[in-house]
Amino acid sequence: MQLYYPNKKTEQEIFDNIPNIELEQINSSENLNLLIHSNNLVALKQLITKHNLAGKIDLIYIDPPFATNNTFTISEGRASTISSSSNGTVAYKDTLKGLDFIEFLRERIVLLKMLLSDKGSIYLHIDYKIGHYVKIVMDEIFGIENFRNDITRIKCNPKNFSRKGYGNIKDLILFYSKSDNLIWNEPKTIYTEQDKLKLFPKKDKDGRHYTSIPLHAPGETKNGKTSQPFKGILPPKGRHWRSNIEVLEQLDEAGLIEWSDKGNPRKIIYFDQQEGKRMQDIWEFKDPQYPVYPTEKNSDLLDNIIKTSSNENSIVLDCFAGSGTTLKAAQTNGRRWIGIDQSDEAIRAIAKKLDAIKGDLFISKTDYQLLTEKKHRVQHGLVKSRAEVLLNSIDSKKNISTSKKH
Ligand SMILES: C[S@@+](CC[C@H](N)C(=O)[O-])C[C@H]1O[C@@H](n2cnc3c(N)ncnc32)[C@H](O)[C@@H]1O
Repeated sequence: MQLYYPNKKTEQEIFDNIPNIELEQINSSENLNLLIHSNNLVALKQLITKHNLAGKIDLIYIDPPFATNNTFTISEGRASTISSSSNGTVAYKDTLKGLDFIEFLRERIVLLKMLLSDKGSIYLHIDYKIGHYVKIVMDEIFGIENFRNDITRIKCNPKNFSRKGYGNIKDLILFYSKSDNLIWNEPKTIYTEQDKLKLFPKKDKDGRHYTSIPLHAPGETKNGKTSQPFKGILPPKGRHWRSNIEVLEQLDEAGLIEWSDKGNPRKIIYFDQQEGKRMQDIWEFKDPQYPVYPTEKNSDLLDNIIKTSSNENSIVLDCFAGSGTTLKAAQTNGRRWIGIDQSDEAIRAIAKKLDAIKGDLFISKTDYQLLTEKKHRVQHGLVKSRAEVLLNSIDSKKNISTSKKH
């Protein structure tokens, strides 16, 4: 299935139409992490053509504008999550609509796929109004066979203002992989006390909570190892033992079989031996109440995605970086990262967020190369680019090199 619309470019046209604007390093770090102050389309092309990163990125998370027709501002250090007010500094504008928005996003997704490694995954955060069109674009680019989940993310508390329609407390995250061979570190969520009482209601003589499950399952196996008698009992008609008889004997010896009133064996599962429960596709990660940047996402959400879909030393990319929630999570989990944003306010917020990370035995102090589009200098004949001025205003320790060629 595909979307057809006027002026839809081919993938080749998308690539060829992007201007070749070099990225220039404006600090003196030799670290492999990259913070890029640039239009992301320009920067993504440079990562492919000049930085040799095609097929090298293991994880991409993006949280682009959602075609909301809003202008997002920051005033007096406070971000308005949604504000079209004229107060404060504009962080970014979200004014592309309809097909213009879809094509804008599609252009980026085409390049992101080129950058993704064969074991890589992409998570695309979007809202319920435009998300279903974006799903079709993602299916077209990544293939429906690589669609993994449409994750429902509970983003806030219930809203009670009156409206003819249900309150909206969720957005969605579309999760795709490049192939079947994706990095996958099974995430587990912790059982609550309520889960314990509900799912493991029985107690043994020592007071340990447990539950029990039948040892047989549907389907007969003729003369198979799982159709033999266990302790003289055959599996019920039309069913077979879940394990062969030797395994059942071992379970019994270990005291892990309980016999029901009707004489049926059941496997005991202790609560205190569980690592946690399997994570499902409805996630509750509410966004910060006092965001430092408009639409700043929950840091635990990013922590979970990074732990699950990347390994140590994987490269994690976010080309709509905002306040750097992804970059911080990548840094604190020992991943390499690349962040791109074209907003001055975003670069400022990222630098602050990364600087606040306290290095310790396990988390290295944040360091990164700061890159910017060369055209800023050439076009404006600037000695310092906007990003340099910006970074200088945040932190003099960043060691900005103003003596670089212009
Ligand atoms: C929704 S915000 C991201 C928020 C981020 N996830 C966080 O937790 O802070 C989207 C960001 O995309 C950036 N952006 C939008 N269009 C862009 C473009 N063409 N190139 C680079 N950045 C862009 C905006 O400046 C904005 O910071």
